[in-house]
Amino acid sequence: MRPGVLVVSAPGKIILHGEHAVVHGKVALAAALNLRTFLKLQPLSDGKVTLNLANIGIKQTWDVANLQLLDTSFLEQGDVPAPTTEQVEKLKEVAGIPKNCASPEHLALTAFLYLYLTICQKRGALLSLDITVWSELPPGAGLGSSAAYSVCLAAALLTASEGISNPLKDGDSVSRWPEEDLEVINQWAFRGERVIHGNPSGVDNAISTWGGALRYQQGKISSLNRPPTLQILLTNTKVPRSTKALVAGVRNRLIKFPEIVGPLLTSIDAVSRKCEHVLAEVLAAPALEHYLVLEELIDMNQHQLNALGVGHASLDQLCQVTAAHGLHSKLTGAGGGGCGITLLRPDLERAKVEAARQALMDCGFDCWETSIGAPGVSVHSASSLHGPVCQALGGL
Ligand code: MEV
Repeated sequence: MRPGVLVVSAPGKIILHGEHAVVHGKVALAAALNLRTFLKLQPLSDGKVTLNLANIGIKQTWDVANLQLLDTSFLEQGDVPAPTTEQVEKLKEVAGIPKNCASPEHLALTAFLYLYLTICQKRGALLSLDITVWSELPPGAGLGSSAAYSVCLAAALLTASEGISNPLKDGDSVSRWPEEDLEVINQWAFRGERVIHGNPSGVDNAISTWGGALRYQQGKISSLNRPPTLQILLTNTKVPRSTKALVAGVRNRLIKFPEIVGPLLTSIDAVSRKCEHVLAEVLAAPALEHYLVLEELIDMNQHQLNALGVGHASLDQLCQVTAAHGLHSKLTGAGGGGCGITLLRPDLERAKVEAARQALMDCGFDCWETSIGAPGVSVHSASSLHGPVCQALGGL
């Protein structure tokens, strides 16, 4: 790897339990997904900054001298946590990005420019850089792909501009930043998320920064103390859905049947709390019985979500197909299609897991065998990365 080249990665996320209930003040548990976004940053001296989004084939280059001329002082104004919608629209205007354009590519470019200009200017000078980003996460599937992107950008730009130190020592294959640097990375990543999503909760960037699992309730985020790593199948039914419409549907059902839906939400809250408790027990003394309880919680939560009206025929199919192989599944995220997770107990035979995965693929779904409780944002040595990651980042 050339001197000064940085490779960082950050995980996506799933919601283990508590989706929808969290909107009504209940507990949700989120966990880092070991499908990651990777970013390679290479310092240059040609006066240009290039961003290459390898998954979507977008490559954009700016002259550093031209960017230096932009008046971006407006980005640091106001008391509201930056950036506001008005600031983002103004940034697009000065950077020549089409106004009111909300395509994922334009939002990704705008978030990059925002983080690049504000982080580098704080450190005194805009740097000439070549940045390539590549992700294992499918976009728009509720798996936190934009947060993983913002976390990678924040970590790499802060390190390159010496706002934080590179924790990778000679001989390390992978390393992580100390707690105080993770705080800084998370704050900047949250700003990147605001460029992309307007007013996100901050859960996705927190889980991508710290990894593991966390509990979320009424805006309060706390890390679970050393959660265990759980093997799962992650399935994308590829059925499109609108989170906004599904959240509104649950709200309407709560208004229409308060004495039915209210207790349902309280019951989901109890599932999340019980799961948190069982995860602590798994860590202390792993035993098969804990995994059997986790499976029961998954089944109950899936039925609760169906009763809230956020199920879908594709998710029923996912649950039936895995049940036929003795496995337990639930939707994750907004529901109405989208993604589901299947817990893989440690005692399962490989052949059974492979058969279930194949059966899900045969339904036309995308399916990955992966884990949750993965490490948060990390910096890698070139020699530790292989195969598709190296290829996608254009060699290391
Ligand atoms: C979507 O990933 C999770 C929901 O609970 C919505 C939200 O928390 O904003 C359905």
